[in-house]
Amino acid sequence: MRVTMIGTGYVGLVSGACFADFGHTVTCVDKDAAKIARLQKGEIPIFEPGLDELVKDNVEQGRLFFTTDPTQAIKQADAVFIAVGTPSRRGDGHADLSYVYGAAEEIAALMEGYTVVVTKSTVPVGTGDEVEAIIKKKRPDAQFAVVSNPEFLREGAAINDFKRPDRVVVGTNDERAHEVMRDLYRPLSLNETPMIFTERRTSELIKYAANAFLAMKITFINEIADLCEEVGANVQEVAKGIGLDNRIGRKFLNAGPGYGGSCFPKDTLALMKTARDYKAPIELIETTVRVNTARKQKMAQKIVDALDGNVAGKTIAVLGLTFKPNTDDMRDAPALDIVPTLQAEGAKVRAFDPEGMTEAKHMLKDVQFASGPYDCVQGADAVVFITEWDQFRALDLDRLKDALKTPVVIDLRNIYRPHEMAAKGFRYVSVGRP
Ligand code: UGA
Repeated sequence: MRVTMIGTGYVGLVSGACFADFGHTVTCVDKDAAKIARLQKGEIPIFEPGLDELVKDNVEQGRLFFTTDPTQAIKQADAVFIAVGTPSRRGDGHADLSYVYGAAEEIAALMEGYTVVVTKSTVPVGTGDEVEAIIKKKRPDAQFAVVSNPEFLREGAAINDFKRPDRVVVGTNDERAHEVMRDLYRPLSLNETPMIFTERRTSELIKYAANAFLAMKITFINEIADLCEEVGANVQEVAKGIGLDNRIGRKFLNAGPGYGGSCFPKDTLALMKTARDYKAPIELIETTVRVNTARKQKMAQKIVDALDGNVAGKTIAVLGLTFKPNTDDMRDAPALDIVPTLQAEGAKVRAFDPEGMTEAKHMLKDVQFASGPYDCVQGADAVVFITEWDQFRALDLDRLKDALKTPVVIDLRNIYRPHEMAAKGFRYVSVGRP
């Protein structure tokens, strides 16, 4: 099949490369000429494990193309995916749909023959109706269907998530579109991936409900972690003890500094806004957003407390800046709240992140960036782990202790074991553990 992907952000690029790998012919279109030029040369603008080889292979096999000119790509496509950004609109948190509607206008102007227009971007309920109206208005003659097909991939595990998803959700009432979508995802039938066909509005809501639920699950365990600290219990064991109940499940119960990234913060806000607009506010999500925002400040306070309530003039080494490992993405990373708060209290911050420093340099001021973990901690008064990169999991603890001025470790991801750290002579503070 011929697939056109509008937008080469995370979702567009990964989905495009994976569809090409399934055997479809895919053209990825983006207005950003510099980005397309880099992709044409085989340079991947984001850090995502395995993506460079996947793109390279499929370009070499003649199944994956990059262009700034959508004309031919849209004319010839069986399916055109809208995978552009839907950032939070300033002021009210509503998803900014201008890029989605812009893409719809463009598709309408160029499409030929029966075309399935698929929204893969995360869009509020009713956006598919609007996309359909835009296309109909511009091209009353056109034969098309607008389908919702939300994406559930995670950064850092994107290719595996796309190719081995728990489910594929497709929202459409159009029989022909149903068949096109089934053909596109046919390779997944080998793994017996469940495909859920539903109404378009239901599909749109599934995406927000999934992300909001996960954000709430993380926030729940974070609050349980706080209680654990007060009562002397261990949050990891509580998580295991509840997670083995199949109705709860073990995943997404790692307590930490609060969720971040390009999705949960934006999507919880957008769902909150939609629910309020429809006069059906979701109080659990409103609380989740509030608790998660406050948590980042709370983490900064935890660091200050570990240094006897005073960080003025002290050097704090920060290991890990990205919102999670295996990505260079700094969007809404907890580090963006924690670091400036420490600086405001008078601390000097030195930081190291395996992939996020280029991005972080634009977002954090007055931070000294180090070339590696040991360089980062040299002479510091404390080290804080904010992101659980694999390379931080087995540091040489003797070397770490020797490098630090005072052996204080604040582990916001529970990477190390409290008794081992105590045995090594560290003053060790983690999340929700005695
Ligand atoms: C999330 C969802 O997991 C994907 O299913 C979804 O497709 C994606 O958003 C999206 O809407 O595009 P992502 O933002 O890449 O994916 O990252 P996650 O792995 O979900 O992590 C999000 C945040 O939650 C991170 O800050 C992470 O550190 C935090 N987290 C996650 C925890 O604090 N504890 C956990 O147990 C799990």
